[in-house]
Amino acid sequence: MQHATIEELRGALERASYLPDEGLATALFLALRLEKPLLLEGEAGVGKTEAAKALARATGARLIRLQCYEGLDVAHAVYEWNYARQLLHIRAAQEGTVDEAELFGREFLIRRPLLEAIESELPVVLLIDEIDRADDEFEAFLLEILSDFQITIPELGTISARRRPIVILTSNRTRELHDALKRRCLFHWIGHPTLEREIEIVKLRVPDVPARLAEQAARFVERLRTIDLAKPPGVAETIDWTQALAALGQRELDAGLVESTLGSVLKYHEDFQLVRDSDLVALVAEARSGR
Ligand SMILES: Nc1ncnc2c1ncn2[C@@H]1O[C@H](COP(=O)(O)OP(=O)(O)OP(=O)(O)O)[C@@H](O)[C@H]1O
Ligand SMILES: [Mg+2]
Repeated sequence: MQHATIEELRGALERASYLPDEGLATALFLALRLEKPLLLEGEAGVGKTEAAKALARATGARLIRLQCYEGLDVAHAVYEWNYARQLLHIRAAQEGTVDEAELFGREFLIRRPLLEAIESELPVVLLIDEIDRADDEFEAFLLEILSDFQITIPELGTISARRRPIVILTSNRTRELHDALKRRCLFHWIGHPTLEREIEIVKLRVPDVPARLAEQAARFVERLRTIDLAKPPGVAETIDWTQALAALGQRELDAGLVESTLGSVLKYHEDFQLVRDSDLVALVAEARSGR
């Protein structure tokens, strides 16, 4: 489904339970309109992966996801020959002979996410998640796909996309990506949301949460981000934490409960200690009073 304006797309994303800010909504709109890959960078838990998933829901496209990791290769990302089937085929044809072309036909191909996305007749959002975890060589290999939307299989020839998938790449920036890759993509940095937006996100994601609890939790987390933490909490942590507090029947923050549930927000022991040793009671009071 095409959305004529940024506002329309934003509305569709909201109905898909995702609240982008103006900048992200614009970037996603342009990715659709220009059919250009979009690279989303940002810290952990700011909504990079979910942006791609929500875009698929909002446009009625199928989501195809490639999770990147060190050592990811063509056999897992693009295609692989199904040796077992090829062997069976040879055995079944024992009497006759099998020529090579027959063995390397499409029915013996195992399609991995990139090939699936290129071959799809239906609209696809292709999520290439955490590209910074893949090796340099794989990144270089992606260039052909991202610029020409085609894949070359030596035994079969070049397969071109019948319709271009919408490609969203995400990176946590554990390493810099190559300029050649960046040049082929639109780019958007997702930062932490404003307080107002984060409250809205929490309300959207934690059904039936008391409004006051959502506000106080978001305010508390926002304040935590100003402390020098090893890993500042993302929206994901705010959501998890509010969910935990709501599950405990909490309607507001209180210092004792904050201390015992802080593990949902801070995932490093040093961060936990830092916050506990700063004036937790004062921090909670601040979040409660809204100052
Ligand atoms: N703008 C938003 N609207 C709605 N939900 C959001 C938004 N941003 C983040 N979230 C929620 O926060 C959680 C974390 O998001 P997501 O997994 O996409 O983060 P990420 O940036 O991919 O993190 P990581 O780098 O750890 O993979 C998800 O549950 C997602 O629904
Ligand atoms: Mg992610």
